[in-house]
Amino acid sequence: MRSLRSGLPLAALVTCLVTLLTAPPAHAADPPLRDLAAAKGKVIGTAVTGSKLTGTYGDIAGAQFNSLTPGNAMKWGSVEPTRGSFNWAEADQIVNFAEAHGQQVRGHTLVWHSQNPSWLTNGTWTASQLSQLMNDHIALEVGRYKGRLAAWDVVNEAFNEDGTYRPTLWYNGLGSGYIAQALTAARAADPAAKLYINDYNVEGVNAKSTALYNLVKSLKAQGVPIDGVGLQAHLIVGQVPSTLQQNIQRFADLGVDVAVTELDIRMTLPSDSTKLAQQAADYKAVMNACVAVTRCAGVTVWGFTDSDSWIPSTFPGQGAATPYDENYAPKPAYHAIAEALGGSGGGGGPSTDGCTAAYAVTSQWNTGFTGQVTISCSGGTLSSWRAAWTFGAGQQVTQAWNATCTQSGAAVSCSNASYNGTVPDGGSVTFGFNGSWSGSNPLPAVELG
Ligand code: XIL
Repeated sequence: MRSLRSGLPLAALVTCLVTLLTAPPAHAADPPLRDLAAAKGKVIGTAVTGSKLTGTYGDIAGAQFNSLTPGNAMKWGSVEPTRGSFNWAEADQIVNFAEAHGQQVRGHTLVWHSQNPSWLTNGTWTASQLSQLMNDHIALEVGRYKGRLAAWDVVNEAFNEDGTYRPTLWYNGLGSGYIAQALTAARAADPAAKLYINDYNVEGVNAKSTALYNLVKSLKAQGVPIDGVGLQAHLIVGQVPSTLQQNIQRFADLGVDVAVTELDIRMTLPSDSTKLAQQAADYKAVMNACVAVTRCAGVTVWGFTDSDSWIPSTFPGQGAATPYDENYAPKPAYHAIAEALGGSGGGGGPSTDGCTAAYAVTSQWNTGFTGQVTISCSGGTLSSWRAAWTFGAGQQVTQAWNATCTQSGAAVSCSNASYNGTVPDGGSVTFGFNGSWSGSNPLPAVELG
């Protein structure tokens, strides 16, 4: 210790310690979505990309959601790009991450017409070869994660919009019986996983969802193992089907679970506060419909941040479809989800919807540090603000600027100065302070009120 206290070694050490530490944004009174969902017995999930599960992305995925779905990592084209040569790295990584964070995993997807390896789609197969390929694929992949996955989207997108069967590799080669066969193979490979059939544009009552309904009814009547129906729910702002809850209920009444498996609600870019408010109402409507039906297992969003959404590349000019913006700030949609799950959404004080506070340590030395809090609004505004947090390790604010700060015990409360109470939509305000610390200087979550 003594040698570190003098001369150059100390200066060098301090330089190393002065790093920029940033806490993920937090919102006023909302506990994490996964806690709210758990209290209601519901799943709140997100699709994830394995390579991104570090830093802020990993922090949010782990803290806010109780279920993960690999966005692409478990698709046939990902796991067996060359026949007989397998790549499980990303799928394994996601399953391991989920287990480390006490999360479920939803397997996605086994039998589909899309994102198959070219050796499979370009091959010429007899019915019996195709049948064998499908059975072997299911046995291998489901078997690999046996006992570890909560559910599988066994068959994906089997129907056309008019309710006829989609003419896929599987349907063309094996007839509609491929669906029952796939479900039976999946049950054999993992008796504990809930087996789903999943599709899009089946959220409301329509020709496609009615075909799916009739299929599930007949599979149940034949004793085929089917546990659930997945409604993808790739929706458009302002267009949540009015029959969503009724549709969920009719499937539930067949004796299967229902899950919203891929929720996103896209808008024409650029986003603005009107569209974001409508989107929040739409997210809330979907959540409410699921909460209202006991057999609705929960809702998974198809990517939790706009920076990890498939929408902009698939629907040019559309985007901003998820609950967090590209910078991981929760959008009004996030707070709407929290409210539908029983959260207070800001609890009593002036609404902070659309605004978040991010805490950072911008420099740190042996006994002191400089902190900075940035309050940003996107889809909301503030005319005055108060940022509050609790220090976890005895830190003490010694001096603040661009805010009036008081500290009582560990509790710090900072209010706007006379000149910076207004935070416009799309704008931000930053204030700073110096503080003392010893031992450790953990980052607190800031509540905005
Ligand atoms: C999407 C992924 O999110 C994209 O990254 C990929 O390029 C294409 O597929 N229905 C599904 C999902 O069942 O698997 C799709 O995921 C989105 C539509």
